[in-house]
Amino acid sequence: MTMLRSVIKGVGAALPEKILTNAEIAARVDTNDAWITQRTGIKQRHVAEEGEKTSDLATKAAQAALAHAGLGIDAIDAIIVATTTPDETFPATATRVQANLGMHRGFAFDVQAVCSGFIYGLTIADQMIRGGLVRKVLVIGAETMSRLLDWNDRTTCILFGDGAGAVVLQAESGKGDSSDRGILSSHLFSDGRQHDLLYVTGGPSTSKNVGSIKMQGREVFRHAVDHMADVVLHALKENNMTVADLDWLVPHQANLRILNATAEKLAMPMEKIIVTVDKHGNTSAASIPLALASAVAEGKFKPGQLLALEALGGGFTWGAVLLRW
Ligand code: ACO
Repeated sequence: MTMLRSVIKGVGAALPEKILTNAEIAARVDTNDAWITQRTGIKQRHVAEEGEKTSDLATKAAQAALAHAGLGIDAIDAIIVATTTPDETFPATATRVQANLGMHRGFAFDVQAVCSGFIYGLTIADQMIRGGLVRKVLVIGAETMSRLLDWNDRTTCILFGDGAGAVVLQAESGKGDSSDRGILSSHLFSDGRQHDLLYVTGGPSTSKNVGSIKMQGREVFRHAVDHMADVVLHALKENNMTVADLDWLVPHQANLRILNATAEKLAMPMEKIIVTVDKHGNTSAASIPLALASAVAEGKFKPGQLLALEALGGGFTWGAVLLRW
């Protein structure tokens, strides 16, 4: 029986020009390159200039993804922007991106699931495609996390960076089995009881302004390792597959030690895991599409290979998407 599949036709990335090294952060707060490298694997991150907005980065990433797909904006039916750092409380950053791209049809909206936002966005787009509502969707993860940081808090300001990544998702007809190209399955979870482990102070309906990131790092670390390995195993099991079937893992890039521990739990060699956290830091919803774009630029993925995309973020939210390239 044939069925509609959502296939990635193009990927794109955009990073602010300005790079902030560990040494530069160490000049501001009591930390050093050796500590940051050993505990996180992060060497540098990109940081938006004053006035450079999430929508600016999202627009550039979308343009790159469209060019990679060989498509014009008129082909796109919908835009989803996953972000936790919108330009404004409303309207959605996605509508600004829609205007920037010169798209005068279709619809655009934001998704908020923090670091899992791109997985949530991809899942929604896939369901809209399978349901027949749209045929081509731009799914973008875009963040200016630097705006949410307390630059005097050494436990958080070392971790995050800014950037955007985008994919063009297109409806294609498949056979309905796991040999199909495109998204095979999506798996979403959340647990609102874990709010206090990772959140941003303030917000429109509490303080009327934006605060800064608060985090219990050790606890977040522990949950991240547990969930990020489990959700991949869950996705594989649902498709009657095992880790041996997986060609690439594209995880949310939070911390190299989390990636190492996830790889160990899954018994996967690090060579099969896409790592960009050293160069980008944690870019929240942008990290997976940025990692995809980086791997594509390096020619890593071959047609027919099996990829697992996965993330955990504040909430907690977490999830995975299994897809055939
Ligand atoms: N430089 C130097 N020393 C530091 C720094 C720093 N930047 N930050 C903390 N320290 C000190 C602490 O004060 C502490 O000192 P003490 O022993 O004298 O009290 C010591 O280093 C150890 O601190 P821990 O917090 O126990 O260090 P840990 O090994 O857990 O590493 C880290 C901290 C890197 C934050 C880690 O817990 C982590 O990565 N957690 C996951 C957080 C994360 O990824 N959040 C992102 C959002 S969620 C997600 O994306 C999955």
